[in-house]
Amino acid sequence: MQKVSIIIFLAASLSASSVSAEDLLAGADIGYGEYLSGECVTCHSQNGTNSGIPAINGLDAGVFATVMHAYKAGDIEHPVMQMVAGRLDREQIASLAVYFASRPSAQ
Ligand code: HEC
Repeated sequence: MQKVSIIIFLAASLSASSVSAEDLLAGADIGYGEYLSGECVTCHSQNGTNSGIPAINGLDAGVFATVMHAYKAGDIEHPVMQMVAGRLDREQIASLAVYFASRPSAQ
């Protein structure tokens, strides 16, 4: 299975895209993000440690939103995350991005 490196993907999409990270975060509501995060933390560890599934606490909100939109669009292939992101709208992704960015990372 071929997998696009997220870093390479981000570098390409952020420079080629007319949509800025700020646009992706429009309408973000941190309380709504916390509410929506319940589903995510069944897989992504809440204390930010990486146990096979990448930790998502403390990720830059713009990077977080860009990655989620990439899963949603199928630009990054991963069946689980494509399904998870596919159900979320732009405002929900923005809210999750600012919420997880506010959480302390393990490092
Ligand atoms: C069923 C388990 C599961 C659930 C539920 C889940 N994820 Fe994931 N998530 C994963 C796995 C596994 C990966 C690694 C995918 C890959 O390698 O591309 C991942 C990757 C990610 C990444 C990329 C992180 C990185 O550094 O590569 C983000 C961001 C993310 N998930 C956010 C979320 C959010 C937000 C939710 C809730 C709306 C969520 N996930 C729900 C399993 C899950």
